[in-house]
Amino acid sequence: MALPTGYPVTAGNVATQNRPEDLALWELRDLIYNTCGMYFSEQRRFFLESRLRRRMSALGLRSYTEYLQYVKDPRQWREELQFLLDEVTVNETSFFRSLPQFDALKRIFLPEIAHRKGRIGFRRLKIWSAGCSSGEEPYSIAIIVHELASTILAGWQIEILATDISRPALEKAQKAVYTSYSFRNSPPEFVERYFQKLDGDCYQLSPYIAQMVQFKYMNLMDDMAMLFMKGYDIIFCRNVLIYFDLPAKKRVIQHFYNALLDEGYLFVGPSESLFGVNDQFKIIQYPGGFAYKKSRGDG
Ligand SMILES: C[S@@+](CC[C@H](N)C(=O)[O-])C[C@H]1O[C@@H](n2cnc3c(N)ncnc32)[C@H](O)[C@@H]1O
Repeated sequence: MALPTGYPVTAGNVATQNRPEDLALWELRDLIYNTCGMYFSEQRRFFLESRLRRRMSALGLRSYTEYLQYVKDPRQWREELQFLLDEVTVNETSFFRSLPQFDALKRIFLPEIAHRKGRIGFRRLKIWSAGCSSGEEPYSIAIIVHELASTILAGWQIEILATDISRPALEKAQKAVYTSYSFRNSPPEFVERYFQKLDGDCYQLSPYIAQMVQFKYMNLMDDMAMLFMKGYDIIFCRNVLIYFDLPAKKRVIQHFYNALLDEGYLFVGPSESLFGVNDQFKIIQYPGGFAYKKSRGDG
């Protein structure tokens, strides 16, 4: 990771507020944007400032100017930049968040892939949860895949990769222990079937589901790493790009397009759209939502 530079500073903010503290704040904002694509507009200034202050108070620093100097110090910038990202990322998630997408995955998309690839004897399924947070999303996918593993996916080689930029989120994902808050959107039978109750309000995911998912640190703005992502049937990237600006979204979505197999599917959050971002995908509607399909040549 190189110390990022070159963010096209939004002149409005800086030109009108050129106190050293404001300038330092916007430079920190630009540093975050250049590193991970998350863009903090003026409307999200309060959030950014509260997260920065949390980190600054842990370090005993009182001003943005001091903190900026600390982040840019060659002795620790790499490590500190990661602490900063851990602080500003929003890790909100839950099992089976946006349930119609999981229903459609089970009833429409996985059967379609199983049928199409099964016909030519290519029994390999690759799914990527990009921006997986603490694991609820990829584990929900794993549960669905597991439920089809004795029928339409019997004998298939299955790979579920889950990536994120937040270290605390990835650590939590790997432990696979959750509280009931993570089940607020899931049908109750899933908890009984796939979790073991621990002390207090804690639930351990069954090891046979947990081991279906491989977690990895990955920055979606790391073009080199993204170029290596290939051969996916399905990519979930939900509620991640809502924090990115248009150029950053375009860059990531183009990488997803390249990472998908022909006829592969991209799921974004229900409130997100690729309108104005990328016009290479075809919209596939299903009851309660839509997905994007990479389909060359059939319009
Ligand atoms: C709100 S959570 C969404 C979790 C899950 N996809 C869902 O919809 O429930 C957004 C996640 O995106 C991750 N994220 C943000 N920028 C990222 C980047 N540049 N590369 C990888 N992950 C990123 C954050 O760390 C966070 O865990």
